[in-house]
Amino acid sequence: MGSAFRVVRSAHTTPEAERAAILAAPGFGRYFTDHMASAVWTPDAGWHERRVGALEPFSLHPSTAVLHYAQEIFEGLKAYRHADGSVWLFRPERNARRFARSAERMGLPRLPEADFLASIEALVRADEPWVPAPTGEESLYIRPFMFAAEAFLGVRPAERVVYCVIACPAQPYFSSGAGGVTLWVSTTYTRAAKGGTGAAKCGGNYGASLAAQTEAERHGCDQVLYLDGTDEEGHVEESGAMNLFLITSRGELVTPALGTILEGVTRDTVLALAPEFGLTPVERPVTFRELRASVTDGTVTEVFAAGTAAVLTPVTGIKGEGYAFTIGSSEPGKQTAALRERVLGIQYGRVEDTYGWLRRVLGP
Ligand SMILES: Cc1ncc(COP(=O)(O)O)c(C=O)c1O
Repeated sequence: MGSAFRVVRSAHTTPEAERAAILAAPGFGRYFTDHMASAVWTPDAGWHERRVGALEPFSLHPSTAVLHYAQEIFEGLKAYRHADGSVWLFRPERNARRFARSAERMGLPRLPEADFLASIEALVRADEPWVPAPTGEESLYIRPFMFAAEAFLGVRPAERVVYCVIACPAQPYFSSGAGGVTLWVSTTYTRAAKGGTGAAKCGGNYGASLAAQTEAERHGCDQVLYLDGTDEEGHVEESGAMNLFLITSRGELVTPALGTILEGVTRDTVLALAPEFGLTPVERPVTFRELRASVTDGTVTEVFAAGTAAVLTPVTGIKGEGYAFTIGSSEPGKQTAALRERVLGIQYGRVEDTYGWLRRVLGP
């Protein structure tokens, strides 16, 4: 049963001038809105204490399970303001379903889709002035998460779980924006293994990625390109927070098949839009050897990464131990740019949403 998230407004909201200064240059993940949504789960009561209240710190006993065993999951999606002032979510039902799958994998209780959607909508309504005007690619980034909040030591599913949603005004994730990123092929670290947690959006996956990200930066790259093993004979998986796509000279849009990667909402969106651009969507395993050879011989003309935070970001170069190659002319590709514009056009209401992907949260 989906229930209402009762709103108790904060008595200390950010003064308008301060909020305006933040919205002028919000960055990403640095400034948070005035409220948070939350709910609590226990085996006896199920989900209860649904509310939206002032954003405030948690008080956690040092034995709280999440601090020791990382029983935690999260989601990431955005609210977009359209030119007429209305505010919309983009395919939030898919985030709700992925959240439920992540919960199952991590031994956490399933949050009903209606609660997921109601909590986000209540928070966005409470913090409406924080949704940036659509001058560039600004949006309100929304972060639902759930964690083991029971105080105990011992490896078992927690019997007290907290669900929470926070939000932050956001500029594009990469400062280089649509200009392109370079990827480092790690043969030191993998992200996931069959039977592991690769398809779940759990905090531990990201904690484990930090050493690889540091390695990438040490080699002058923006992000890691993960393989499914630690030698270059393996398959290409995804990037740190983005799914990977190749465009071929035969008019295919190829992306690694699901399994150990995250099932991205943007990934699904791009696959659905592909035919509009004369591209045939193909989901299949891609070896790194194939990627490298087909970029070199020109069969792959464009490579891009896709995710909520970064939208579509061209990949302009790939580097690994002892080699480096550029994609195409190392300039962002035309088809990538066109797909990117289409996704953003739908999200910001500049083109018709013929797929029914948008969900209205606020007026006009
Ligand atoms: C590992 C990983 N892959 C892919 C994605 C892209 O998913 P989405 O398009 O749903 O943001 C993300 C971001 O959530 C991610 O963290």
